[in-house]
Amino acid sequence: MSKIFVDACLGKETPYTPVWMMRQAGRYLPEYMAVRADAGDFLSLCHDPEKAAEVTIQPLDIVGVDAAILFSDILVIPDEMGMDLSFVKGEGPKFSDPIATQEDLDRLIGGEEAADRLTYVYDTIKLLRKQLDERGDEKALIGFTGAPWTLATYMIEGQGTKTYNICKKMMYSNPELLHNILEKVTEVVKYYMEKQILSGVDVVQIFDSWAAAIEPGKYDEFSWKYMVEIAEYLKEKYPHIPVIMFPKGIAAFIERGGIYGNFDVLGIDWGTPMAMAKEKLGEKYVLQGNMEPCRLYSKEATTECVEAIQNIMGGKRHIFNLGHGILPDVPVENAIHFVKECQRVSAKS
Ligand code: CP3
Repeated sequence: MSKIFVDACLGKETPYTPVWMMRQAGRYLPEYMAVRADAGDFLSLCHDPEKAAEVTIQPLDIVGVDAAILFSDILVIPDEMGMDLSFVKGEGPKFSDPIATQEDLDRLIGGEEAADRLTYVYDTIKLLRKQLDERGDEKALIGFTGAPWTLATYMIEGQGTKTYNICKKMMYSNPELLHNILEKVTEVVKYYMEKQILSGVDVVQIFDSWAAAIEPGKYDEFSWKYMVEIAEYLKEKYPHIPVIMFPKGIAAFIERGGIYGNFDVLGIDWGTPMAMAKEKLGEKYVLQGNMEPCRLYSKEATTECVEAIQNIMGGKRHIFNLGHGILPDVPVENAIHFVKECQRVSAKS
């Protein structure tokens, strides 16, 4: 059974340009808040396959997107490597014992052993595979991971950061340790993505949310090459599974011709001009994106942007999405409007 979203990722012609939204399973949906309250808290929800599957499917029915993204979080990976993850209310994610030395890194579980501990993720995917197949509506399921660099920022800083000063101090004064961390995370992620594929996802996306923290001349060395290593490992073994790369905020790196590697789709963030990305890379990769997520506060601003993107991409080698995640205070009806507009402007008959 061919799915429109998977076909579009592989550059095939589709009846319209499919659409989904980063962070589509989340707090702007009252139905999500109800299931999360029932689960207790966010991490308990990630550990509960029945409830995680339920919130994964919600945006398909409520918002009408063409693909579901697995409900989980990128930070369950370092959690299962042995770092103690918690979410402090109002403050975001925290690790109690960040990595500062080689000894700290050596204490963490690596490779397949760490990936094997993420059983609740694979159980959620298996449940979703069954539920989506039973629906028979050909909606795709996207699995995901954080890029090694983005994961490393949390593992080194112990939390989110505005300045990245601790990990950048390591980048410039002890690059060997940073590379050792990135290598260890890359190994775990390869197995983790492979196990997501074997559990039943149709597509995988690698989120490098904090790519823009690295200067363009260093981006390949500290992030892109590790993402490419993961993508190439997967494409060699599972060529039919599309791989989406989403490095956020790297217009300068794209412009200087930094993008290379064997993968299918490049996610374009909202600060990168779609026309530039198309000119540079549109023949080599399918492009995904890239509406500024805050346009969702206005239906007029949304329609204007969807039409402008459609004019650039012309319904070819494109997937509609936001240029980063949807925010929690966006009205649901505006998200529905975005999805309908993408499907309307790109319909071929
Ligand atoms: O996209 C989806 O709908 C699937 C689920 C998903 C979540 N996190 C659920 C979540 C995905 C794909 C992620 C990825 C993720 N997690 C990223 C990369 C994606 C991006 O947006 O760039 C990052 C950087 C994280 C780390 C993380 N998780 C942070 C910084 C936070 C707190 C942020 C905040 O807005 O409070 C989380 C928590 C989180 N992950 C929530 C959700 C729905 C909110 C938790 C809640 O329900 O209270």
